Amino acid sequence: MISVPYSALPEVGKELAGLIKGKVVIDTCNPSPSRDGGIATWARQKGAGLASAELLPGARLVRAFNAIGYTRMGQAHEQPGRIAMPIAGDDAEAIALASRLIRDIGYEPVLIGGLAMGKHLMPGTPLAGEHSAEEVRKIAAALR
Ligand SMILES: NC(=O)c1ccc[n+]([C@@H]2O[C@H](COP(=O)([O-])OP(=O)(O)OC[C@H]3O[C@@H](n4cnc5c(N)ncnc54)[C@H](OP(=O)(O)O)[C@@H]3O)[C@@H](O)[C@H]2O)c1
Repeated sequence: MISVPYSALPEVGKELAGLIKGKVVIDTCNPSPSRDGGIATWARQKGAGLASAELLPGARLVRAFNAIGYTRMGQAHEQPGRIAMPIAGDDAEAIALASRLIRDIGYEPVLIGGLAMGKHLMPGTPLAGEHSAEEVRKIAAALR
């Protein structure tokens, strides 16, 4: 899992290039122009999923944990599966691994599409916050 401010991703991608090649990487990173500057503007224009793939070449990327704030993550297990966790990726093994971790902490994983759909996984988008799996599927369908 790589979870750093988006502005650190270019450097992290270079530093970890050998380590992440061919490995499943869960990308939680959200580009925020006010925090991360120009790289975030570029990533938002490109779409965060495709931008992260470019910054973490060779990794088997899945975007997950992006659209829900940390403050309530510790409570999801109290009602397992009630809240959906949208994820986006193209690699079946990466998706399966992320889905298992998401279920382990009490969320229901919902694949909304490939990495290109990863741009919708961040605060301030219709998918952000707490939704049921059915709601996430409906919102994602409207975004396609
Ligand atoms: N907070 C949330 O609720 C939430 C939810 C979904 C997604 N996200 C996204 O997840 C990412 C991390 O969020 P956060 O709230 O954990 O941020 P954070 O509190 O700023 O934590 C950033 C982490 O990144 C590390 N880091 C910073 N610059 C680095 C660099 N140049 N090289 C290596 N490591 C570096 C820091 O390490 P040190 O402590 O050693 O400096 C720290 O562990 C962000 O992209 C955020 O948008 C956050």
